[in-house]
Amino acid sequence: MPADLTVDDATLVLGVETSCDETAAALVMGGNDVVSSVVSTQVDLHADFGGVVPEIASRAHLDVLNPVIARSIVEAGVDESRIDAIACTVGPGLIGALLVGVSAAKSLALAWDLPFVGVNHMEAHLYAASLEDPTLEFPLVVLLVSGGHTMLIEMLDHGRYRLLGQTIDDAAGEAFDKVARYLDLGYPGGPAIDEAALLGDPEAIRFPRAMMNDGYDFSFSGLKTAVVNYVRKHPDVSSADVAASFQAAVVDVLVTKARRAAQATGATSIVLGGGVAANSLLREEILGGCGVDGIQGFLPSRSMCTDNAAMIAAAGWHRLRADGPTPLDVGATPNLRLDFID
Ligand code: KG4
Ligand code: ZN
Repeated sequence: MPADLTVDDATLVLGVETSCDETAAALVMGGNDVVSSVVSTQVDLHADFGGVVPEIASRAHLDVLNPVIARSIVEAGVDESRIDAIACTVGPGLIGALLVGVSAAKSLALAWDLPFVGVNHMEAHLYAASLEDPTLEFPLVVLLVSGGHTMLIEMLDHGRYRLLGQTIDDAAGEAFDKVARYLDLGYPGGPAIDEAALLGDPEAIRFPRAMMNDGYDFSFSGLKTAVVNYVRKHPDVSSADVAASFQAAVVDVLVTKARRAAQATGATSIVLGGGVAANSLLREEILGGCGVDGIQGFLPSRSMCTDNAAMIAAAGWHRLRADGPTPLDVGATPNLRLDFID
């Protein structure tokens, strides 16, 4: 890496993301100016299987990663020599999928003699919101809800996070996907339930709200079982009513706990992240709740909530500034954790 690298508003970082079923590359300047962002989704490849198949994911990343990186550079309209650093997700995620991105990013760093920065995918999700609203002020409460994780995090400053709560079993998106599969609504399940729920009555069935008054942790596997048991007992029930009532139960718990966390920590805003943040009811209820509580509710666009490489480049810029480059002998870590303060 060049010895004279300073990390400032002009530093251009190439971000690479291959941790799950999205192959993505982006160029971000100064940690918050998205110059280009390209995402190639594999959702169609996995649809027949009702979930992500790790081996198929790795092969698809191999096929498209180089063209995706090339496109991110072309769309940015810059010469590759303008890039100052390469950031890549090193975990958590699927090992084979991660390795494709990590190997490519390290090779580019070597070939172009640039610093490499290993990024924690979860930390990157925390940075996604500030890419769309750089005026967001700490402390923030971030509700991170995706197919793989459900976390309530207090973001006190760059690099200073407190884990308030997380799921003790299924992730919220996983519950959407499993219930949708059971109801035969299609894959991915979240958008299918969201759509079906529009035609249903959210009060038709009172599904359980697990751990509602029990700290900030979540549990969704009992809710999924409650749905299965209900449908078995009432085979003629309308799927739309089940979808709407299930969705209402999930959203009720998520919003209640996020609002409680914001009040307890004195947060200025609640920010959503992860694929489930695209859910219409969740978005509506968070905004409504924040209005009542007198704080800001920030809802990033769907493309910023789901996996993308702009958030990797942004988190990489902050990491590079705080810690410098990551040694090239770093590997991919499927169960990489975020460092939380107590
Ligand atoms: O963040 P993401 O794209 O991938 C990871 O899991 O990392 O999240 C995908 C999850 C899936 O479980 C999907 O069903 C869910 O987000 N999802 C939704 C909606 N759109 C996507 N869940 C509820 N409502 C939606 N509109
Ligand atoms: Zn993610």
